[in-house]
Amino acid sequence: MKAKSFIIIVMAGGILVGCSAKKTDKEENEWIKNCINVASKQLSSLAEQLADTCVMPRSLWTGYDLEFLSNQLDREISTFKDSLRIRPVSARTGSLRTCSIYDWTSGFFPGSLWYIYELTKNEDLKKYAIRYTNLLYPVRTYTGNHDIGFMINCSYGNAFRLAPNDTIIDVLIESANSLCTRFNKEIGAIRSWDFGRWNYPVIIDNMMNLDLLFMASKLTGISKYKNIAVQHANKTKDNHFRPDYTCWHVVSYNNDGTVECKQTFQGKNDNSSWARGQAWAVYGYTYCYRETKDKTFLNRAVEIADMIMERVKTDDAIPYWDYDAPITEETPRDASAAAITASAFLELSTMVTDGNLYLLYAEKILKSLSSEKYLSKVGENEGFILRHSTGSLPNGSEIDTPINYADYYFLEALKRYIDLKNIKL
Ligand code: GLY
Repeated sequence: MKAKSFIIIVMAGGILVGCSAKKTDKEENEWIKNCINVASKQLSSLAEQLADTCVMPRSLWTGYDLEFLSNQLDREISTFKDSLRIRPVSARTGSLRTCSIYDWTSGFFPGSLWYIYELTKNEDLKKYAIRYTNLLYPVRTYTGNHDIGFMINCSYGNAFRLAPNDTIIDVLIESANSLCTRFNKEIGAIRSWDFGRWNYPVIIDNMMNLDLLFMASKLTGISKYKNIAVQHANKTKDNHFRPDYTCWHVVSYNNDGTVECKQTFQGKNDNSSWARGQAWAVYGYTYCYRETKDKTFLNRAVEIADMIMERVKTDDAIPYWDYDAPITEETPRDASAAAITASAFLELSTMVTDGNLYLLYAEKILKSLSSEKYLSKVGENEGFILRHSTGSLPNGSEIDTPINYADYYFLEALKRYIDLKNIKL
């Protein structure tokens, strides 16, 4: 054979092999389809199971071992024993833990139903989404803590996006008014909790409640709500962050607005970096920039995002429950922190010139969460979608378990990913 024709044949063969080896778009996106399939079946079964009740699925009951906690916290057992939560005798390890509509997590299950409805267009799921959202109607006047933002924004906020009506608008505005009652203008922040010995505790999680206020300003044309949100975000930006952009969990203020103390409630210790706190922070400042176009919020979101990518050392990008926890075989992950981070990074990726960096990191998280290690099989995991989240390890609560907010932010992130990449399933 002439040398020239040999080269042509080899090249053509190469092209053919290349073509057959290259995955089609449909094959590339099989993992997303699988997630949606698992999520719709799991959420339907949970919705059906609780359809005659007024409670929401929250997580699975977990047990804890004092020696394990003592190792994770680097503390003598005697120093934390009293603070551990006692669970009901009926709460068998691994059984479904439900919560009332006044629990801080009550909005996530209805919110997940809205997202899975949006992803599937399945009308039965929409009916469930409406049913579970309506259960939260009494929450609109709740002023017992800052969590009304989480509760109402994830439930009624998504209802407004996908099936708007006047009642929903009223609920959103009333809820924003309830949240505003917790704002102190001398201090310049919304008070998070009423329990504990702190004078005026504000936790980083509170950044997530501001979206409700931005929404209320848009719905009413009244700037008061947005102004409160901006003051809170600025106060938190000035006081919650360390020079390396990790954040404290709790900052408590004196009545004149000076700092009383900086501590943790759910992290390893006051100076550690609790994984979910870092995730709330990057999510919060990303959307504060979306709503205000204030570059200082964008800069803070980028600083936190870069810190997260530097500090999360796991191969699959799913963080341990606290960045400073001792790493052993037993150290639990926090899939919820990863899901929140993925969702935030996807939005952040659209706001900066080197956005692809954040998009790729979010993609890595989503693919990890879609792997067998984290993604439930249909019919397992009591109806939850993801495994391996950690709620409050120092309080002996929800350690290495599925939790409703991990599922919620996972679905939100999947939706954002599909939209950003213009994926047709
Ligand atoms: N907002 C409470 C938590 O993240 O556990």
